[in-house]
Amino acid sequence: MIRTAAIDAGNDSLKAIFGDIKAKPLIIPNVVSKLDERKTVDDTNDPLDELHVKITSSALKTSGTYAVGNLAAKRTDNDHIRSNAFKSENDQTIILILTALALDAAKNNLNDKIINVKYILSTGLPVDEAKIEGQRKAFREKLINATHEVVFQKTPKYGGRMVKIEFEEVFVNVEGYAAMINMTMDDQFKPVNLDMMKKTILINDMGGNTTDKAVIKNGKIDNDYSNGSLLGVGNYLDDIIEDVNREFRTKAFKSRRELVECITNEDEKEQYHIWSTGNAQSIKEIVESHFKILAKEQYDEIERTWNRVGRLHAVYNVGGTAILIQDFLKKENEARNKYEMHFLDSDESICSIVKAYYKLLILQAKKKGLKIEEEIPTA
Ligand SMILES: Nc1ncnc2c1ncn2[C@@H]1O[C@H](COP(=O)(O)OP(=O)(O)OP(=O)(O)O)[C@@H](O)[C@H]1O
Ligand SMILES: [Mg+2]
Repeated sequence: MIRTAAIDAGNDSLKAIFGDIKAKPLIIPNVVSKLDERKTVDDTNDPLDELHVKITSSALKTSGTYAVGNLAAKRTDNDHIRSNAFKSENDQTIILILTALALDAAKNNLNDKIINVKYILSTGLPVDEAKIEGQRKAFREKLINATHEVVFQKTPKYGGRMVKIEFEEVFVNVEGYAAMINMTMDDQFKPVNLDMMKKTILINDMGGNTTDKAVIKNGKIDNDYSNGSLLGVGNYLDDIIEDVNREFRTKAFKSRRELVECITNEDEKEQYHIWSTGNAQSIKEIVESHFKILAKEQYDEIERTWNRVGRLHAVYNVGGTAILIQDFLKKENEARNKYEMHFLDSDESICSIVKAYYKLLILQAKKKGLKIEEEIPTA
C-alpha cells in the first residue's frame, strides 16, 4: 500500500501529516548539522530529539551523515536555511523531508531492519519561487526520479535501521494558495466559507524568515500581485535576546526557540519572565517594543499590497509569527485603515499550509485514480 504524506518544509520548522488529516502533525525544527559520530544513545529517549541519520540520495548535492532538528539545534555549527536561498535547490530541504519520511516509516514498521516504503508526497514552494518557470516541475522530478536511503545512526530505538524511500507521485503546490484551500475545505473534505472563493483576498503568511503574500481572486492565485519578502520575526527575536542580555546582564535564552517558548508560555507566572537572580523579572516591555516595530513593518507591507490591488476584501494572517504579533497588528489596523482582518487559532495558524497540502493530496490522488490507504470522501 502507498502511504500519504504532506510536508511543509518551513524556514523555521518542518510540519508533516501522514496517513490521516486528523493525526497530530509532526514538527521538526529546521536545523541541520553535519555530524559523523556521537556517543551511544539511551533507547528510552524520544527519537525525535536525537535524529542522527545517514542520507544517500541522488536528489542531494552531497550525501552525508547529519544531526537533524532538536539534536542539531543543540550544536553551535548548525545551518539555518538562509532566507535568500531557494527552498527547492537547497540540500537542507531534502534532508529534512527524507528524515521526516524515514521517521514515519520506522514508527510504522517496528520489525524489519530494512524498510521499503512508497509515498505519495504533497508539498509546496513559496509564491516567489513557484512563480519561476519550471521550478516546481524541477523540484518534483528531483524527488520522483531518484531512490533515497536513510539509515538511522545513533538515534534512540531506530539505530541501524535502513529506510528506502520511493515516490509514487509528488505534488508541488504553492504555499499561499494552499492556505486558502485549508480555509475553504474542512477536515472532512467538505466545502466551507465558499463566499471566500468569490472575493479578492490577501493571505499573509508570516513565517520565520520570510513573509509570503498571496492574492487570491475568485479562488485563483494572482501572480501579478503575489510576492514574498524577507521580513521575518527571526531578526526581531535576536534583538530581543540581545536587549534582555544587556539589561539583565545574563544569558537568559540560548536560542530564538527558547525565547518563543517563554513568550507563549500558558502559565502566567512563567510568561514573559526570566529568573536570572532567583526572582522573576519581566521582559514584557522589551518584547513589546520590538514586536510593535515588526507589526508596523508588516502593516506597511499589507497596506502597499492593498493599495496596489485596489479591490481587496479581507486579509487573512497565518503562520507562527501571526500568533506572536496578533495584538500589535490589530492595534495598528485600528489606528490606520480598519481593514477586515482575520487570524486563526495557533495550531491552525502554524499548520494551515501542511493541512492544505494533505487536502490537496487527497483531491489530486482522487482525480488521478491513485490507490492510497485511506478512503477518499465522495462528497
Ligand atoms: N506555537 C507557536 N506559538 C507562537 N509562535 C510560534 C509557534 N511556533 C512557531 N512560532 C514562531 O513563529 C515563527 C514562524 O513560524 P512558522 O512555522 O510560521 O515559520 P515557517 O513556516 O517555518 O517559515 P517560512 O514560512 O518562512 O518558511 C517562528 O520563528 C517562531 O518563532
Ligand atoms: Mg511557513
